[in-house]
Amino acid sequence: MTSRIEWVRDSCRLLAGISAEFARTCPFDGLTIGTGIHLEPKTVALILSLASGGARVISTGNLSSTQAETISYLRHRGVQVIGETTTDQARHAEDLREVIGEKPDLLLDNGGDLFLSYLGDPYPGLLGGTEETTSGRMRLRPLAGRLDVPVLVINDSPIKQFAENRHAVGQSVLESYLRITNRMTNGRRAVVFGYGACGKGIAAAFRSAHALVSVIETDPVARLEACLDGFGVPARDEALREADIVITATGAEAAVAGADLAELRDDVVLCNAGHFPVEIAVDELAGSPLVLRAEDAADGISTWHLADGRRVHLLAGGHMVNLSGPRPLGNSIESMDLGFALQARCLEAIADGSVGDSQVVVAVPRFIDERVARAFLEAYGSSGRRPGA
Ligand SMILES: NC(=O)c1ccc[n+]([C@@H]2O[C@H](COP(=O)([O-])OP(=O)(O)OC[C@H]3O[C@@H](n4cnc5c(N)ncnc54)[C@H](O)[C@@H]3O)[C@@H](O)[C@H]2O)c1
Repeated sequence: MTSRIEWVRDSCRLLAGISAEFARTCPFDGLTIGTGIHLEPKTVALILSLASGGARVISTGNLSSTQAETISYLRHRGVQVIGETTTDQARHAEDLREVIGEKPDLLLDNGGDLFLSYLGDPYPGLLGGTEETTSGRMRLRPLAGRLDVPVLVINDSPIKQFAENRHAVGQSVLESYLRITNRMTNGRRAVVFGYGACGKGIAAAFRSAHALVSVIETDPVARLEACLDGFGVPARDEALREADIVITATGAEAAVAGADLAELRDDVVLCNAGHFPVEIAVDELAGSPLVLRAEDAADGISTWHLADGRRVHLLAGGHMVNLSGPRPLGNSIESMDLGFALQARCLEAIADGSVGDSQVVVAVPRFIDERVARAFLEAYGSSGRRPGA
């Protein structure tokens, strides 16, 4: 596993450049950065880049995605890591509180958990921070009035939208489906819930793998876009009755719920790509009177056997399928290198005061997007090859 962490670190060309620069410029000298983001090989590269800029970093993971090897790798390099891998909400909340208890000057959040924990126990001196995701932005925007410091939402950078949410999530959800189930997608009917950036990428990736893809969308404008992009947009019940594969990417709770069990066909596979493990209402489905028994069918696959003989499979317990389950790789290294370069530059800008207090839960400033875009084209070459190679 350590060799994978090294592979990822060596592959993150933007973060390597930023680390070298930060070691000279020390933008975080004397500052503590609290992070609440997946602890997996790619975030190691980000966290160590921040540390190389002089920060004392105190980190905890997100629910379910923490990898044990990552924790020991970081601890060996002087990063204070709170907690272990957990799927327990109460335990996770404790870990977040412990990070906040250290009164970090800057917060790097993923899903809004860390800022919510801060609001539960605010302290003077917070300079601001970043939020990585759509789900976090949805939680934090209504609270912007209570956060009187800059909070930059990485998710709302156009770069994050097209590089990670669309292209990378599409590829990694397909890769995870293939890896966990080892089943073909050709000719299978895949139903994607949500046609935002992630849903668009997932629908496109499954279509490229010769699945017959339909989209379920609550927003008629996004539904129209899916239709004009060539995807089926059937009625919800009809889509569920036909589906071999159901994938949620909505940011919403219970997009697939207990009542849907009546519609699902035998041998259907359900999985979630959304940030929180609530898009498929797992407890409701498991507790349905239609369910006779549940079993762990294989690594990362659980199966409900219904009284009428149908089987419904769930991948990774309804957690983010590309970051949970067996041997999760997450999104491509380059896409995360881009997003994490945005993270590092945003935190640097907040630390040096070039982002004002009025910029609360807003997108990444344009000057940072442009700087990171230029750096990527230079580091990876406009053809995708290393310049000069
Ligand atoms: N797995 C990953 O690596 C990864 C990466 C980035 C984002 N995410 C997460 O994926 C989720 C989606 O992100 P996004 O950027 O595409 O969001 P988005 O807001 O751009 O799109 C979500 C879409 O879902 C639709 N929707 C909402 N509720 C629905 C429902 N019940 N049924 C059908 N459609 C519904 C909305 O109308 C919207 O068009 C979020 O939770 C986000 O945090 C995951």
